Amino acid sequence: MRSIVVLVAGLVLGWIDRALDLSRTFLVRWIGVKRLHWISKHLVPWSLLYWIGGTLRRNFVMWRNCGVILGVVLLTWKTQSRLLGSSGNGKMQTKWNVTAAVPLPRRLVYDNGLGKTPIMGWSGWNKYECKINEKIVFGNTDALVRHGLDQLGYNYVIVGNISQSHGFFGYYFLCLDDCWAAYKRDKQGNLKSHPTTFPSGMKALADYAHSKGLKFGLYSDAGRRTCIGHRAGSEDHEIRDAKTFASWGVDYLKYDNCFHKKHYYPHLRYPVMSEALNKSGRPIFYTICEWGEDHPALWAGKYANSWRTSLDVKDRWDRIQILADDNNMWAAYAGPGGWNDPDMLQVGNGRMSVAEYRSHFSIWSIMKAPLIIGCELRKIREEHLEIYKNKEIIDINQDPLGIQARKVSRQGRCKCREVWAGPLSGKRIVLALWNRDWRRVAIKVNWFDLGLEPGVSVRVRDLWKHEDWSERQQDGFEVAIDSHDCGVYILSDVRLTSDNVYVIADHVF
Ligand code: GLA
Repeated sequence: MRSIVVLVAGLVLGWIDRALDLSRTFLVRWIGVKRLHWISKHLVPWSLLYWIGGTLRRNFVMWRNCGVILGVVLLTWKTQSRLLGSSGNGKMQTKWNVTAAVPLPRRLVYDNGLGKTPIMGWSGWNKYECKINEKIVFGNTDALVRHGLDQLGYNYVIVGNISQSHGFFGYYFLCLDDCWAAYKRDKQGNLKSHPTTFPSGMKALADYAHSKGLKFGLYSDAGRRTCIGHRAGSEDHEIRDAKTFASWGVDYLKYDNCFHKKHYYPHLRYPVMSEALNKSGRPIFYTICEWGEDHPALWAGKYANSWRTSLDVKDRWDRIQILADDNNMWAAYAGPGGWNDPDMLQVGNGRMSVAEYRSHFSIWSIMKAPLIIGCELRKIREEHLEIYKNKEIIDINQDPLGIQARKVSRQGRCKCREVWAGPLSGKRIVLALWNRDWRRVAIKVNWFDLGLEPGVSVRVRDLWKHEDWSERQQDGFEVAIDSHDCGVYILSDVRLTSDNVYVIADHVF
């Protein structure tokens, strides 16, 4: 973009130069030689006029040439660096080259002992945005507990014959997003909560969450101000703010990406808060929110427990699909301790159908995304609550193997009938048949797509219908799925044929 601006500026200067040149001719023609002589004799000496005109013109010619040459050089450099797969301005890789990077060896380990499975919780941002206050937060916390969302009973899982505890209790993170903070810090330079909307302060909210057996999450920004534009951010105050968060009893920090110093890229800014949190004396789950700008899957695993992979979620079918596809590219980088985050859940906000919400929840769960409820819990409708409470799907999300399922085939002329799959603990496979088409269609799964040998037979369980199929399946099967809906299945009891090995999503059993 910049190179085109320079090039156009050069050409414009060229036109001005040409216009000046012409205007001299016209001046002589319109004003007449006699009058010009009179002007130069009585008003401005002709030599001065001549000098000004000449200098101006020489300068214009010079700037035009510089603009054109610089523009062409910049354009060539940009095109070349794009072909080489780097944007050449300190960013890591351009988007279109990313798929090539995915199969490479991947995980980076940030071991603060947290996030062994994706976190689950509630946040008010998708529903209330900046119109939030402590009354709303208290009300939704009570509703979360009333609906039993915090106690879904997934505090252990079975791995083979061993029961492993990983300390999970359902949707148990209460997360405050933007707009909790005051416009300015206090006199000592500390962050403080907004006096009108959160008069009790953050410590009181954290205490309330803890008293209900929940964890408490807060939001800040790796810039001067938060994304809403007028609340204090944490840039250059990282150590002080991390200590403040710890003293309030914060268990989770979402760190956003607005109003930061120019050319100070995310992979330089985000580690600073990571270190500060580690030194704060309290284990704090750290989630990076830089919208996938700097391809965080490639570097954030060293510093954080999760990282956003794309734009903000919206309660819209097209946006859900974009986020799923963006997040899918980075599957190889997710795992216990560090997860890809396609943003929060919109189920219940009312702009999508129940089938679409089911797809949203299914794909987020199998992608091992953080499951953060983003709707009003005080008045949630039964069919939406049912989606959030599907324990069998949650169990996939919380599987201790922690491997992100990915898209393995696309069918139909539209390529919008999709098969997603991934390995689970206990030698099981999760399979999702996602119909992005506008009508009900049959979607087919072949063992080939899953890396299973032909002839291998499996048991199948449907996780939305909560039923086991009576017949074992061999080689594959086909299911009719409603428009925009998604079927989720577990394949288990895999009976192998020849080599006793199968591979799915790079994972060898
Ligand atoms: C950004 C983030 C959102 C939300 C808002 C708050 O847009 O991506 O998730 O936190 O800021 O202002």
